[in-house]
Amino acid sequence: MRQIKQGVYAVGAIDWDARLFDRLIPLPDGTSYNSYLVRGNEKVALLDAVDPTRSDILIDNLVKLGIAGIDYVVAHHAEQDHSGSLPDVLLLYPGAKVVTNPRCKTMLVDLLGIEDDKFITVQDGEMLSLGDKTLKFLYVPWVHWPETMATYLQEDKILFPCDFFGAHLAAGNLFVDDEAVVYESAKRYYAEIMMPFRRQINANLAKLDDLEIDIIAPSHGPVHDRPGFIIDAYKDWASDTVKNEVVVPYVSMHGSTAKMVSYFVDALIERGITVRQFELSTVDIGKLATALVDAATVVIGSPTVLTGPHPCAAYAAFLANALRPKTRFASIIGSYGWGGKMVEQLAAMLPNLKAEILEPVLAKGEPKDADFAALDILADRILAKHKEIGIAN
Ligand code: FEO
Repeated sequence: MRQIKQGVYAVGAIDWDARLFDRLIPLPDGTSYNSYLVRGNEKVALLDAVDPTRSDILIDNLVKLGIAGIDYVVAHHAEQDHSGSLPDVLLLYPGAKVVTNPRCKTMLVDLLGIEDDKFITVQDGEMLSLGDKTLKFLYVPWVHWPETMATYLQEDKILFPCDFFGAHLAAGNLFVDDEAVVYESAKRYYAEIMMPFRRQINANLAKLDDLEIDIIAPSHGPVHDRPGFIIDAYKDWASDTVKNEVVVPYVSMHGSTAKMVSYFVDALIERGITVRQFELSTVDIGKLATALVDAATVVIGSPTVLTGPHPCAAYAAFLANALRPKTRFASIIGSYGWGGKMVEQLAAMLPNLKAEILEPVLAKGEPKDADFAALDILADRILAKHKEIGIAN
């Protein structure tokens, strides 16, 4: 338990040892499930609960603070890492009402079986007085579920945006103490769950323009006492701007595709393009997702397996398609033994990428001079495309 401002406390749980989220997302630096208590002189509100595996820590923190009663539990988001311990909180504080929007209410009923009479639903912009502190609720849909909302604590100018602006980062210090570390972690988090909703993120960022914000207290990672840092980062990531970068996720079985990738990556570097190469059988998908945030171009490398792409390459294509990065150009390089439809199948897996497909390069067996020449042509074409959109010299 830590105090953010007078009457405002962080009462959530730091999960230092967590290593996988949703059985999908690696957590190299753990995470935290942040919950905040706002004590007004008339009413007390808890903003979000924690993951159900950490209920005991939340309850312990509330007990340590001497919280005899909670009037409101604000649920910004129904996903279980913030709502899963709500039933435990409601058992301990039976008089508490769950304050949320109608859509989140429906989801909490579906996911957790919370009874109808426990809810107070609020509209976008509605206020709730705690006495000397006032909560204002803001709908910020699709960061990253449809029901997500934020709370603005007016008197203290604190924004509680739940997942929005969050980071999977376990940290002992309450506030951001190293912006470079938090930037990397927040960008990774943005890439993994926010990036598909860039349009809605821009709308939600615009909605915050009128607010005077001193502190942003998200539901994962450290609290921002320099909110401009994370707001500006989000504006950059969610903008239409791409960078002079090529992401090359690849996998190779017997070395042919690896030779092509190695040659191609050198060719791009020689042309002054930043390259990020990822070997897909061992990749940290969080790092790959992060690289996709800014890159103008993605080139997937795959051998042909059973007439199609290597399953690791198919997984990367599926993931990239789901994450909807702002990639402008894409291509495929790789090899085959006797035939197949590797290129066609991989390209068909990327309908969400609004990218221009550049002529793929496919080698029969070991790459030969003509294949290396074709890779040079692809590198030239990428550079020309990057010049066309003004990101390369
Ligand atoms: Fe941190 Fe979408 O839950």
